Amino acid sequence: MQLAHRLKSFSEPQTIKMAKLGRELRGQGVNIIDLSLGEPDFNTPEHICKAAVQAMEDGYTKYTPVAGMPELQEAISIKLKRDNNLDYSPNEIIVSSGAKQALINTMLCLLDEGDEVIIPTPYWVTYAAQVRLVGGVVKHIDCFIDTDFKVLPEQLEAAISPKTKLFVFSSPCNPTGSVYTRDELAALVEVFKKYPHVNIISDEIYEYINFIGGHESIAQFQDIRDRVIVINGMSKGFAMTGWRIGYMAGPKALIEACDKLQAQFTSGANSIAQKASVTALLSDLGPTHEMVAAYKKRRDFVSAELKKMKGIKANNPGGAFYAFPHIKPLFGKSYGEYTINNDVDMSMYLLNEGHISTVGGSAFGNSNCLRLSFATSMENLEEAMRRMASALEKLA
Ligand SMILES: Cc1ncc(COP(=O)(O)O)c(C=O)c1O
Repeated sequence: MQLAHRLKSFSEPQTIKMAKLGRELRGQGVNIIDLSLGEPDFNTPEHICKAAVQAMEDGYTKYTPVAGMPELQEAISIKLKRDNNLDYSPNEIIVSSGAKQALINTMLCLLDEGDEVIIPTPYWVTYAAQVRLVGGVVKHIDCFIDTDFKVLPEQLEAAISPKTKLFVFSSPCNPTGSVYTRDELAALVEVFKKYPHVNIISDEIYEYINFIGGHESIAQFQDIRDRVIVINGMSKGFAMTGWRIGYMAGPKALIEACDKLQAQFTSGANSIAQKASVTALLSDLGPTHEMVAAYKKRRDFVSAELKKMKGIKANNPGGAFYAFPHIKPLFGKSYGEYTINNDVDMSMYLLNEGHISTVGGSAFGNSNCLRLSFATSMENLEEAMRRMASALEKLA
């Protein structure tokens, strides 16, 4: 069968490849600790699950409006005001089957063939895959550990061209955990003000998993607010990855376009999960805060351990659940049959010699780094850090 040309822009993500290799070794009886995953290790809090059961019992089992149940749009509007001081009315909000769908809706509704999209590296690989899928052209800005992987205003300005349609970033960031401060965002806003043809996707899905005391959204800046699309969802902060509820807030015309488009793809998102999301958003965030406290303990531990390892420069993630250490000084070193020439070699070495599964930074546009997820138990992390230190110690 001849598949469509658009599939050519797709390759298997390294994250999936590593998960597969890890599973294979596990199948052979090897005890692999998985630090390659991008999903919370916690179960969805009980009160949210109960709300879903109640929704089924109450008969919420039918199609919902395409843009989402009005009560969920309302709950999101309340949440955006409560947590982010953002004013979005329910008709400036659309609910989708995950933040991923909100992103592709936006790309499909905004991008024409050849439009340029600026994506700072390291980046979440889906952004680039989606841009290419819809015929856009990806332009990267390379950001490094010495600026905490954040874009500087002068870098942003240099990357903007007359063809730039979109700028896409996440804060907290997957894969680096970097969190933009209000001042850092303000400096970028000064640049955006000069280029009114550039729209901004602000992916805030890790918002609650924040260790620096507060989340800032670029949508707060009134001068550019009508060009910002806020993407968020239930997956990370509420440990609801499988429920598939994401949402976006943005200009009404774009929301209406996404509504039209989504009507022909998936219709409204899962009705039961939408009902449960209302409960999640409007009830006490205690369970979320408990998960975040656990992530913070793990972050502190992993950062401290990585800092002790020779040849590694560790970042200090301000949010999300990833560390993104710089490993380049170890390139060129060997142990036994292994020579480490790049990030993928390192990831394979750690898998085969250390029995821990990580993802090479090249999967996210930075081949000098490695992504380690700390969405796993403290016990696993303690053992993983021991194994990693011992494997790296052997390299000479
Ligand atoms: C930065 C970022 N945005 C969006 C998503 C997707 O979220 P959802 O599960 O809502 O599709 C992920 C999931 O890994 C992510 O890391």
